[in-house]
Amino acid sequence: MFGLNKTGSRFCDLKGKVAIVTGARRGMGRTHALTLAKAGAKVVLADVSAEECEAVVAEIKREKGEAAAFKCDISNKTEVNNLVAETVKIYGKIDILVNNAGICPATPFLEIKEEDFEKVIDINLKGYFLMSQAVAKEMANQKKGVIVNIASIAMGQVGMGFAGLAHYCASKGGIVAMAEAMSLELAPMGIRVNTIAPGAIDTPMAAGVLTNPRALEAILAKVPLKRMGKPEEISNAVLFLASDESSYMTGSVVAVDGGWTAG
Ligand SMILES: NC(=O)c1ccc[n+]([C@@H]2O[C@H](COP(=O)([O-])OP(=O)(O)OC[C@H]3O[C@@H](n4cnc5c(N)ncnc54)[C@H](O)[C@@H]3O)[C@@H](O)[C@H]2O)c1
Repeated sequence: MFGLNKTGSRFCDLKGKVAIVTGARRGMGRTHALTLAKAGAKVVLADVSAEECEAVVAEIKREKGEAAAFKCDISNKTEVNNLVAETVKIYGKIDILVNNAGICPATPFLEIKEEDFEKVIDINLKGYFLMSQAVAKEMANQKKGVIVNIASIAMGQVGMGFAGLAHYCASKGGIVAMAEAMSLELAPMGIRVNTIAPGAIDTPMAAGVLTNPRALEAILAKVPLKRMGKPEEISNAVLFLASDESSYMTGSVVAVDGGWTAG
């Protein structure tokens, strides 16, 4: 991944870059933070609990990387603005935003309460909006920046619907639509916006599937590669989209799903 490219610099080199990763205390957010730090970025880890990010910060520092943890509920505008202001105060700029934090409560459509729906949309969609807008204002000043969203193959149209996840699917489809509009408006400001649509990935969010052999078998039957993805396999795509190696990509949706949506 970090070999030399034609110009003699390292492939996907993020040396000197400053990145924010949301939902970084565990799961994919953790591996995104570790991967970006390994590529040379200073990483700000944001999650509902800063303390629970500290183990990841320590892991990065052990490898001589630079990282800091912040408490930030991405659905709370004040906390988002504080996170962005603190990051700029400490590191002077923001080059990369990885919108990763999310929740996925499974409930049959007829039983989803209004407050359940609002909570999923507040975090999974409004949270990405609040983070992207606050960070893009900083990126616009430096006329360069990259936003990488983690949506899901549960995004509708080019992806697919999932029974029991209507509110979740609505939020993920919203991320893709918003990112496409953002990519048009932010391109003249030097900001690229791309979205990754993971398939079934082995994280705490997928615990319900991993501990239910029948559910796991039903999913794997649809995945040509016949296994769950590893969080690092999504982080590798994040790294590529966060680096200058993807400089001609904006408004794209990249499926990393073991071939699930090809079926
Ligand atoms: N695991 C999968 O199979 C899968 C598939 C497709 C997409 N995704 C998406 O990938 C992303 C990461 O999921 P994961 O599988 O690592 O899940 P996870 O549950 O392991 O991690 C999610 C993280 O987001 C944080 N978070 C939740 N609400 C937050 C809030 N309001 N503010 C800040 N942080 C908050 C959690 O504390 C947690 O650390 C999510 O957006 C999820 O929807 C996951």
